[in-house]
Amino acid sequence: MKRIKVSEIKPGMILAEKIISPKGQILAEAGTAVSAQQLLHLSYYGIKELAIQDEADAIERYHFDAPDEFVGETQSWRIVNSQEFSEFKRAYEKCADKLEEIVNDFVKKQTQLEDEELLEDIHSVFEKHSTGLGIMAMMLNIQEIDTTTYKHSVNVAIISRVCGGWLGIKDEKELDVLTMCGLYHDIGKSLVPQSILTKPDSLTAEEFGRMAEHPLLGYNLLSDAALDRRIKLAALQHHERNDGSGYPYGLTKDFINQYSKIVAITDVYDAMTADRCYRAGICPFEVIAQFQREDRSKYDQGILQVFLQNIAESYIGAGVLLSDNSRGTIAMINNKALSSPLIKLEDGTFVDLKERTELYIKACI
Ligand SMILES: [Fe+2]
Ligand SMILES: [Fe+2]
Repeated sequence: MKRIKVSEIKPGMILAEKIISPKGQILAEAGTAVSAQQLLHLSYYGIKELAIQDEADAIERYHFDAPDEFVGETQSWRIVNSQEFSEFKRAYEKCADKLEEIVNDFVKKQTQLEDEELLEDIHSVFEKHSTGLGIMAMMLNIQEIDTTTYKHSVNVAIISRVCGGWLGIKDEKELDVLTMCGLYHDIGKSLVPQSILTKPDSLTAEEFGRMAEHPLLGYNLLSDAALDRRIKLAALQHHERNDGSGYPYGLTKDFINQYSKIVAITDVYDAMTADRCYRAGICPFEVIAQFQREDRSKYDQGILQVFLQNIAESYIGAGVLLSDNSRGTIAMINNKALSSPLIKLEDGTFVDLKERTELYIKACI
């Protein structure tokens, strides 16, 4: 057992002791995995440290979702088992395969980036699936463990395009540029040894150094290509952070392009959801909480607020299972606490998760 600062705890770590509120209420039992929503709520109680079990692999066993008896009725389950999702998945996999081909040809044979067809495929995904289940809900469920760089890049492209729309970008040409920022942001990884990219254990300092070269490698690869400059900058700047804590240059917000700032957020969002994919799927409020735990000065808050607020609002009316196993629907989003909405319970009463900080959303059902 070790005591760790709340800010350093990752969702999925296993509690060594139960968490008790100052009023004596049990917030979480020993032996259970802690969630991002719980960690966010702990700040309300002034709890600064927790006792965590020494298990490096705890995060892999982390089960943030409904208990087994709910598996057949979660929203994720319904999405994954729908006709629309299987069509979406087919189109999505085709995009990832095509991207792999384009990037390989470009890097190895110095051919042009022949991406018109790929962009058309992405357009048709948007036309077919922008209603109904919604692209973001499907994206959340398409995640798999050990996803490839190409799938990740298609994810970031699609999510960036959705985010661009939410930010008010209407011009299709501009949305295409943003989509391509996502498609090529990690192109530099094609020059990083595969053994480093797929290493299951944590990287050594030297390996991390090689990995951290990918933004610069990507920018150099794209520098002579006939592409909008912002696409090249997104490859270079997507790991830069507003507060100067990013890499490769430690740029601060005034020196980072707007589209790079969007990709920085969608890239992290995709990595967070990939970290949390389990058979019963993931609830977006957990990812929102995870973002809200991050330092506010890292990301462009204007973009982040619009992005997370739209995700949260798309769940108004959706069924939820709370941590005390009561059920309800999302009635209203709290703009200042996006992961803690107002819930209408089955008996018609309301519970505000912003006030009831011992409760959180366990699953979308
Ligand atoms: Fe990257
Ligand atoms: Fe990435």
